[in-house]
Amino acid sequence: MATNITWHAANLTRAERTTLRNQRGLTIWLTGLSASGKSTIAVALEQHLLHLGLSAYRLDGDNVRFGLNSDLGFSETDRNENIRRIAHVAKLFADSTAIAITSFISPYKKDRETARKLHEEGEEGGLPFVECWVDIPVEEAEKRDPKGLYKKARQGIIKDFTGITAPYEVPDNAEIHLRTDQLSVEKSVVKIMGYLQEKGLVT
Ligand code: PPS
Repeated sequence: MATNITWHAANLTRAERTTLRNQRGLTIWLTGLSASGKSTIAVALEQHLLHLGLSAYRLDGDNVRFGLNSDLGFSETDRNENIRRIAHVAKLFADSTAIAITSFISPYKKDRETARKLHEEGEEGGLPFVECWVDIPVEEAEKRDPKGLYKKARQGIIKDFTGITAPYEVPDNAEIHLRTDQLSVEKSVVKIMGYLQEKGLVT
C-alpha cells in the first residue's frame, strides 16, 4: 500500500448520482467453467440492457488478460489477483451507476466472496452484487471445447486448467443459477432480467 495518499471525496453522494443518472449501478458476476457460456451470455445481456436504454459494460476474462491483467497467468495466486483487480474495476463501474457484467471463471469461493464484500460493504451503503453461476457439467464443457483448450489440457500442453487440473469451487449462495446445457442464451438472459426486475434493480 502506498503511503501519503488521501481519499478525495465527491460532492455528490451515491444516492444523488443514482437519482441524477436515473439508473442504479450494480455488478452481475458471471462465474463458471471455461466454455460454460459466460462470455456469450454476457454479450447478449449487455446488448439487451443497452437496448433498454441502460448503461452496461462487459468485463471479460480473456479480453482483460490482453491489457490490464496481461501480467497474470493461471496459478492460484495470479487468479486471486486477477479477480481482486476485476472486483475493484467492476465496483467503479457500478459506483458510476452503470451495470458491470463480469465474465471470469473466478474459480475460488474466497475471491468471489471478497468481490461481493467489496460491493456490499461500502461506506455509502451497498452496491448490489448479483452472482450468477453459469453451470455446465465439465464433460459437456469438454465436448463443446470451442477453443480446443480442454484437449490441450488433457494432452498436458496447458497446465492448471480449470475443471481438469485446477479446481472450480461451485457457488453455494449464487443469486442466479443457469444450467447452460439445458437453457438457451436467450432464456438465460430472460432469467437474469427476471431476477433484476423482481428485485427492483432495473425498471
Ligand atoms: S480466472 O480463473 O477467473 O482467473 O480466469 P479468467 O480470467 O476468466 O480467464 C479464463 C480464460 O483464459 C483462457 N485460459 C484458461 N482458462 C482456465 N484455465 C487455464 N489454465 C487457462 N488458460 C487459458 C480461457 O480462454 C478462459 O476463457 P473462457 O471464456 O472461460 O473459456
